Amino acid sequence: RRACHDGVVTKVWAHRGASGSAPENTLPAFELAIEQGADGLEFDVQLTRDDFVVVIHDETLERTTNGNGWVADHSLDDLKRLDASAGHDGFAGVTIPTLEELFTLVASADVRLNVELKNSRIPYQGMEERVIALIDQFGLRERVILSSFDHNSLRGLAEAGVGMPLGVLYSEPLWRPWNYAVKLGASALHPSLAATRHKTVERSHENGLEVNVWTVNEAEDMERVAECGVDALITNHPELARSVLDAR
Ligand code: G3P
Ligand code: MG
Repeated sequence: RRACHDGVVTKVWAHRGASGSAPENTLPAFELAIEQGADGLEFDVQLTRDDFVVVIHDETLERTTNGNGWVADHSLDDLKRLDASAGHDGFAGVTIPTLEELFTLVASADVRLNVELKNSRIPYQGMEERVIALIDQFGLRERVILSSFDHNSLRGLAEAGVGMPLGVLYSEPLWRPWNYAVKLGASALHPSLAATRHKTVERSHENGLEVNVWTVNEAEDMERVAECGVDALITNHPELARSVLDAR
């Protein structure tokens, strides 16, 4: 068995906020993640019919709200009438946040911001530009990493000289993904836990890339990826991850 990297202190990024304890991708989930000691927040963005950037994972509303249909078919006003508590007790009335609301919440918090562009199923026209405009409006460039499963979108951003770190999301093991990421102009790999290999972490670091792994929810997996030297683990349970990593 190949030895793992030494010397990397793995960070904790909260997946959709502290989504194990609060409704995913809502302001209370992000506040809780910060309280629980997360170093970063991961969240998903989509566009409304009237071109507002909103923080929600699915392209459709059914799973996480009391609404129906496509996010893209609703105006922001429509979406703000919905309850996004998704059955979590004590969170009734919580709404889908806009990216602007989330940035306002975290403006003075010391956390990294992983904006996942949800543009691989619906190629939202102009979403990247709107997200970047908000990042600049809030002066958050130094804290943001953009990621996407749509690698054409990432390539477009790299070619345009976006000047922010880009993370290549993937679910299944790839052949020499570090070479692919370098060629794409990205600065990080974002593999699923199942697609994460020791060799990938080693080669990525040799090539100046970060490796940020999702979704790591079990204590023993947290130990294992930290031992492997991943830069961040993305988890629904930042409090657990904090205690596991701080005890190492
Ligand atoms: O960004 C990591 C992870 O969130 C990617 O998958 O479906 O949870 O957005 P998903
Ligand atoms: Mg995500």
